[in-house]
Amino acid sequence: MWALHTGGTFIRRLGCPGTGQEEWSVEMAEQAEIGLIGLGTMGANLALNIAEKGHRIAVFNRTFARTQGFLAEAGPLADRLLPSETLEAFVASLSMPRRIILLVPAGQPVDDQIATLKPLLDPGDLIIDGGNSDWHDTNRRVASAAPLLHLGLGVSGGAEGARHGPSMMAGGAAEAFAMVAPVLKAIAADFAGSPCVAHLGPGGAGHYVKMVHNGIEYADMQMIAEIYGLMRDGLGMGAADMAPIFAGWNEGILQSYLVEITADIAAATDPETSRPMLDVIADRAGQKGTGRWTVMDAQERGAPLSAVEAAVTARILSSRAADRVSGEALFGSGPSPLPRDALSQTMMEGALIAGKVLAYAQGFELLAKASAEEDWALPMPKVAEIWRAGCIIRSAMLDDMAAALGEAADRSLIMAPYFAGLLIEHHGALRQTVSLASAHGIAVPALSAALGYFDTMRTARGTANMLQAQRDFFGQHGFERLDQPGQTGLHGPWG
Ligand code: 6PG
Repeated sequence: MWALHTGGTFIRRLGCPGTGQEEWSVEMAEQAEIGLIGLGTMGANLALNIAEKGHRIAVFNRTFARTQGFLAEAGPLADRLLPSETLEAFVASLSMPRRIILLVPAGQPVDDQIATLKPLLDPGDLIIDGGNSDWHDTNRRVASAAPLLHLGLGVSGGAEGARHGPSMMAGGAAEAFAMVAPVLKAIAADFAGSPCVAHLGPGGAGHYVKMVHNGIEYADMQMIAEIYGLMRDGLGMGAADMAPIFAGWNEGILQSYLVEITADIAAATDPETSRPMLDVIADRAGQKGTGRWTVMDAQERGAPLSAVEAAVTARILSSRAADRVSGEALFGSGPSPLPRDALSQTMMEGALIAGKVLAYAQGFELLAKASAEEDWALPMPKVAEIWRAGCIIRSAMLDDMAAALGEAADRSLIMAPYFAGLLIEHHGALRQTVSLASAHGIAVPALSAALGYFDTMRTARGTANMLQAQRDFFGQHGFERLDQPGQTGLHGPWG
């Protein structure tokens, strides 16, 4: 156990606490190579991960009691943790140039923390924001960091990932990334010998990619929840019976962290009531905002992101529980059971495969569009590569996506031969699943949105000729004729 005193000395406790054999020694401070501010769940786990990989890390939290509690629970890793009670002492405990990871709540707290740190730092010191910051904020912080450096670092993988290997998406100056690359590579998740961290571009590029990761995460989770709904309300299955099905799917094309935890969740029992855990959890989903940001960004760019939009809307509607109760009373009892054997496990698996391909294709399309518009030159295959392990959406499919993007980074994933093959094989299952759900009043908005996108994208002659005619009819907006290509502003015979 260490405690930093001013003047660069540490008091170190030796011997076993509480045994009466405690000794204290005063030693010159050995400075830490990196520091971390914010010992919440993510910060504490990331600090332990860094210490475990052999790095000496200084830690600071707004309340010192939390720092003391953290140290007390750190076990042998406490020897590599340098706690400070004041921000000044924390800064003094860092070797130069200083590297400081912030894990404080996104938004104003990040700006406040930077403002209090800045006067204590020297030119060339680096602040790394590891929270779920809005990428616009990161753009601004990178641009206004001088004489300091600022790196926006999207960190995915939840508490477990932070502790044992997250996926990390960095944005900012390349030299800023280079200053922490060895530590980040040491703590990142590993996929076949390759660390799941990369410098993806300037400014807010890293946080942008993390935001889109979360948007995809929303769609992936929602589609799984919709299949769960079909099993529960359509097939009358209990949660325990679903667990082996999800576990089985996790052995195939759908192998992924989200399907894996779904199997575990379905198998779990509530210790208080002995009922399936899922049956006692309220059906109202929270959201911190990254999914909504992704949808807003896609709308602004004119990028199709319908599966994520459906997932965000589903979360919003989930929170309107009282309205849903009134709706069921007014319009009749919600979902009705499906005919026996109408929906096989294979069909549901196929629906999830096709839905997932389509949702991810939309997500990567958004990344490609943003990359071009923001002049980021995002390394698209690399994005898929660093999502193969550590992050919440890690899955076997991402390895194939990395390969497909490696062949042609700008091509939609639905056009890549492997994924086109999956869609040709499984879109029938998606269609059957959505039709059955629809016929029986079971809401599957994300799967439906994915199917709508697919059907639109394979319809050479669409229906927007009607929209153009209507626009011209009521507003003389003009249209283009098929037999006079390139000539716009033509009008119909409606006067
Ligand atoms: C991750 C997660 C993580 C967190 C999100 C989701 O990649 O580790 O996405 O960032 O779980 O904040 O939050 P909401 O579901 O509350 O929006």
